[in-house]
Amino acid sequence: MYHLKNKTIILGVSGGIACYKSVELVRLLQKAGASVYVVMTQNATRFVGPLTFEAISGHPVCLELFAPTPDTTFHHIQWAEMADAVLVAPTTANVLAKVAHGIADDALTTFLLAVQSPILLSPSMNTRMWENKAVQENVSILENRNISILQPASGELACGTTGAGRQPDAAIIVEYLHRLLSPQDYYGKKILVTAGPTIEYIDPVRFISNPSSGKMGYAIARAFYSRGANVTLITGPTHIEFPFDIRTISVQTANEMADAVFEHESQMDIIIKAAAVADYHVTQKAAHKIKKDTDELHIALKKNQDILKELGRRKKHQILVGFAAETQELKNNALQKLSAKNLDMIVANIVGQKDSGFQADTNHVMFFFKDGKEESIPLMSKESIAHLLLDRIQSNFLRAV
Ligand code: PMT
Repeated sequence: MYHLKNKTIILGVSGGIACYKSVELVRLLQKAGASVYVVMTQNATRFVGPLTFEAISGHPVCLELFAPTPDTTFHHIQWAEMADAVLVAPTTANVLAKVAHGIADDALTTFLLAVQSPILLSPSMNTRMWENKAVQENVSILENRNISILQPASGELACGTTGAGRQPDAAIIVEYLHRLLSPQDYYGKKILVTAGPTIEYIDPVRFISNPSSGKMGYAIARAFYSRGANVTLITGPTHIEFPFDIRTISVQTANEMADAVFEHESQMDIIIKAAAVADYHVTQKAAHKIKKDTDELHIALKKNQDILKELGRRKKHQILVGFAAETQELKNNALQKLSAKNLDMIVANIVGQKDSGFQADTNHVMFFFKDGKEESIPLMSKESIAHLLLDRIQSNFLRAV
C-alpha cells in the first residue's frame, strides 16, 4: 500500500450493521502506514462505541459538532484541512442522501461539506434500499461530483435476505482507497503481467516446478492497477488470493502460459514477464501414477518455447520487460537475456537467498536498460520494487515519447 504511507485518512462511520467491520479497516490502514482519525454519527455509536475507535485509532473520535476541544478548534473543520483522503464506511442511505444534497446537520455531514481531498463512500444497506431509485439517483449525483462510490458486495445480509448491499471486505476497501491516492500515470494503458511458477506433469500426481510464490508478479500487477492501468494477470498456481478487480487468468503449464500470453499480447502496451516459466516439459507424461518398481527412473525432458523471446521477436511498439533469476554472474546473464530476447529492460534478480527472490517479501534486484543504463536497487519490499519499476518505465519509455 505504497501510496498510503504517511497519509492522513479520516474514516467516517455512519449507523449500519457493518460498523464493526470498520474497526478492522482502521487496523489495515494503519498497517499500510496511514494515520487514521474517526468521525462517527450518533447512530453509529449504537453499533460500536466511540471508545473502540478511539483506542484503535489512538485519537479522539469526533462525534459532536460543537464539542469543546482542548485547543478550541473544531475537529470537523481542522480534520477536513488535514485529510489526504476521506473514507465513509459504512455509508447509510441517509448519509448518502445528505451528502448528495449538501445537508450538514451533524459532525460527519458537516465535516464532509468542508472536505476538499478525495472522498470514497462505501454504501451498505438492505438490497431493496440500495436499488431504490432515490438512492441510485443520489449515487449518480455524487459520482458526477467526482465522489467515488464503492459498489456494495453481494451476499447474505444482516436482515436475512440475499443480494447487493454488503460492505466489501476491509482489504478491498483499502485497495480501492490506495488507487484513489495513487498517481494515475498509467491511466488507460493496457498491461500484461505474468507471475508465479509453471508446473510440468510427470504423471497425473507428480510434477516439476520451482518455488515461485507469485508475490513479485502480483505486486507489479497491483501497482499498475493502483496507478490507473487496465491490467491482465496471467498466473501459474500460487497460494495468494487473486488481486481485487484485476482480470486474472490461471494456467498451469508453460504451454498454457504461452497460449494465454499470445492470445492477449497484441492488445497490450506493456508486457512484464515476472513468471518463473519451466524451461523443459516431460516428453511423455505417464497416463497413470508411476510405480516405484525400478531403482532408477529416467525422465526425458523437452525444451519449452521461450515465451519472452517470441514476444521480443513479434514486438513492434510495445514495451517489453523481462526478469532474469540468477544465482551467479547476475550482470552478464541479465545483459545476455536483454539482448537475445529483444527487451527494453530487464530486472536481474538475485535468487537463492533468504531475503531475495523466490517467496521472500523483499527482493534484491538490478535494472538494466536497452540503452546501456543500469541501476542497482537496495533490498526493499516487492511492493516498493514494483512501484520503482513503474517509475522507471515512465521516465525511460513513456515520458520521453
Ligand atoms: O514469485 P516470487 O516468489 O515472488 O519470486 C519472484 C521471482 C524470483 C520468480 C521473479 O522475481 C523472477 O525472477 N522471475 C523470473 C524467473 C525466471 O524464469 O527467470 P529466467 O532467467 O529463467 O527467465 C528469463 C525470462 O524469460 C523471464 O522473464 C521468464 O519469465 C522468461 N521465460 C523463461 C522461460 C520460458 N520458457 N519462457 C519465458 O518467457
